[in-house]
Amino acid sequence: MLTHEQRFLCLLPSLRRMKSVTDHTPGEARVETNVPHASCRQALGPSVGTKPQQIQRKALQPLLHSESSDPCQQQLSCQTISSRRAARPSLLRFLAMAAPPQPTPAPLAADAAFRLGFLGAGNLAESIARGVAASGVLPASAIRTAPHRRPERAAAFASLGARILDSNAQVVHDSDVIVISVKPQIVKQVLVELKPLLSEEKLLVSIAAGIKMKDLQDWSGQRRIIRVMPNTPSAVGQAASVMCLGEMATEKDEDRVKSLFSAIGKVWTAEEKYFDAVTGLSGSGPAYIFLAIEAMADGGVAAGLPRDLALGLASQTVFGAATMVSETGKHPGQLKDQVTSPAGTTIAGVHELEKGSFRGTLINAVVAATTRCRELSKN
Ligand SMILES: NC(=O)c1ccc[n+]([C@@H]2O[C@H](COP(=O)([O-])OP(=O)(O)OC[C@H]3O[C@@H](n4cnc5c(N)ncnc54)[C@H](OP(=O)(O)O)[C@@H]3O)[C@@H](O)[C@H]2O)c1
Repeated sequence: MLTHEQRFLCLLPSLRRMKSVTDHTPGEARVETNVPHASCRQALGPSVGTKPQQIQRKALQPLLHSESSDPCQQQLSCQTISSRRAARPSLLRFLAMAAPPQPTPAPLAADAAFRLGFLGAGNLAESIARGVAASGVLPASAIRTAPHRRPERAAAFASLGARILDSNAQVVHDSDVIVISVKPQIVKQVLVELKPLLSEEKLLVSIAAGIKMKDLQDWSGQRRIIRVMPNTPSAVGQAASVMCLGEMATEKDEDRVKSLFSAIGKVWTAEEKYFDAVTGLSGSGPAYIFLAIEAMADGGVAAGLPRDLALGLASQTVFGAATMVSETGKHPGQLKDQVTSPAGTTIAGVHELEKGSFRGTLINAVVAATTRCRELSKN
């Protein structure tokens, strides 16, 4: 158990970054982190969107007086990407948006709670449901779905305490927020079937990759829609999700969806025109990093390490470096400079990477995946 003083010291870096919190203005991209420790959520939830000084005051009081366990692992700060930065006309903007942590919306108050339904009880739906229930954003009893064919999907949701219904129609009837979590090629069929049951009273949230807002509107006949693009680390609560709002989606809708996806990682809000590039970066990005981890481990083996040790060191090194970028808010180039001493080992390795066009290759990978995504979404 930490003393109050220790807690305060742990929180200082996060609180310093809170100076950059501003109210959202159009054209800016926003970032958001994992659901923090319960005490932090309690403290920070109501302060989202308020001025920095208010956040600091609200955040500090409960934490300094809380008897709960170590909050040091929790991420508490928030940053609005400046409009100057967001306006840079390049995909590199997304790489530069390495997000310092920020406060996450608290579990919704009882009067703001809602019923959450999933159309499609698959892997991603389960990850979201687990995250939402585990973080306390909603009680499991507020979650419902109607598994399609495989009984094990019903068992997975039932084990969470979610309600299992008989049909998609029942899910729509019994939910306020409806997540469309079937495979992209089935979205049209599902929405067209359910169209007569949908109304503006219900918020639709689509996580289907590549399905555009306009198609969602045409097929559902609704305009109160939020489109979200998460990625595979959602399975371990470390997703990078980007959401865009349909024309009838409200601020309250945005807050609700932010709460849901903050339960499985970090969330950004951006315009839909960026979604192909989001797919090229964060959608496909885990595969690039899997390759990098495998290659680093191979390098370790080539240099004489046992395979298990090499793989563990490679994955933990990537995890640690990513955490440093996101926790310190420092530019990755600055962090690289800090570890490259003159004539040292690291600069020798960096030199080899540059000879192999490491950075140019990664940039090309993101651009190629974006281009492919654009091609696919035209078909
Ligand atoms: N996984 C990710 O990390 C990720 C990332 C970004 C976006 N997404 C998007 O998330 C969506 C779901 O992906 P996933 O990986 O979770 O796929 P998944 O595990 O295959 O889930 C799809 C679920 O939909 C069910 N289903 C099929 N037809 C249905 C119908 N007519 N009515 C209701 N349910 C139906 C399937 O049930 P049966 O198998 O029983 O037929 C299956 O459980 C996709 O649109 C994908 O593009 C996923």
